[in-house]
Amino acid sequence: MKYIIVGLGNIGKKRLNFLKKKEVIATVDPYNKDADYKKIDKIDVKSYDSVILSCPDKDKFYYLEKFLALKKNVLVEKPLVFKNSKILKGIFTKFKKKKLILYVAYNHRFEPLIKNVKKIIDRGALGKIYLCEYFYGNGTSLNVKKNLWKSKIKSGVAYDLFPHLLDLHYFLFKKKVIKILSKLNLNIENKYPDYCDYYLNIKPTINLKASYLSWKNKFSIKIVGSKGDLEMDCLSKWGRTQLIFRKRKLPSGIPSEKIIYEKKTNYIFKTEHLYFEKLIKEKLYNQDHSNFFINEVMNKIKII
Ligand SMILES: NC(=O)c1ccc[n+]([C@@H]2O[C@H](COP(=O)([O-])OP(=O)(O)OC[C@H]3O[C@@H](n4cnc5c(N)ncnc54)[C@H](O)[C@@H]3O)[C@@H](O)[C@H]2O)c1
Repeated sequence: MKYIIVGLGNIGKKRLNFLKKKEVIATVDPYNKDADYKKIDKIDVKSYDSVILSCPDKDKFYYLEKFLALKKNVLVEKPLVFKNSKILKGIFTKFKKKKLILYVAYNHRFEPLIKNVKKIIDRGALGKIYLCEYFYGNGTSLNVKKNLWKSKIKSGVAYDLFPHLLDLHYFLFKKKVIKILSKLNLNIENKYPDYCDYYLNIKPTINLKASYLSWKNKFSIKIVGSKGDLEMDCLSKWGRTQLIFRKRKLPSGIPSEKIIYEKKTNYIFKTEHLYFEKLIKEKLYNQDHSNFFINEVMNKIKII
């Protein structure tokens, strides 16, 4: 497969690093001097078949239309959200009609322990699900403040990190959102929210928390059910990840616990990339993706 990378920032560079030199025909970025080109027009259209789109969100639609016309598969960095959900549906339909893959990259799905979380839920070991709590925090408050486009996003950290949490929730449960129970947005070091805490009633109730003020990176999932609960902590890019599964003792008492660990790795992006290539090779145009769900929730909670 031959690629071009459009948007050579934080994530574009990460994707470039694990691809082989001969796989990447060119990098494009109007502002980063390390990129090969400022615009895509100068690149020979026949020299590549797929694109990694890791530019600011406001430019994604423009590029998607361009690459659709050029008949290229696209892996676009999360999120891909629009106020008008018809635009989102339209773009997926057009890619499918041209037998091209459009994949929105939510890499946390590929965390090794997420598979175990899903298995525990799917075999009904937690019983009736009561509550799902998701937290995603990093300490990038001041980086965001300096970033030309991230500092202008009015819904702040919720816009940036909630899509990851919603993608995981969709992957685990495939449930509809019903209403917002409460929301708290705090602008502490930034003009727009750098700490957000929302409760949504999706049957079960879900709590989404995201922060740019978490000086030590933190990611956690806690799911409480009638028969037990589970807690997953950390992302494997940061260190050892842990999953605790507890069986409830009735009517009360210390639950029995099983703990699984996975060591730190940086192969998640690579695993996701291989999944993208599999979609292309096997012509899997009907992916069961979370994008319509995420778009619906993001509109409902008014963070687009
Ligand atoms: N999957 C993940 O875990 C993850 C993590 C971080 C960011 N992201 C997503 O990746 C995307 C990029 O985020 P980032 O953190 O790399 O941001 P960034 O600001 O570090 O990088 C964006 C790059 O795009 C370039 N750019 C600006 N306008 C452009 C244009 N018109 N055409 C091409 N390039 C242009 C900028 O010069 C910059 O180098 C965002 O959608 C973000 O949400 C995903």
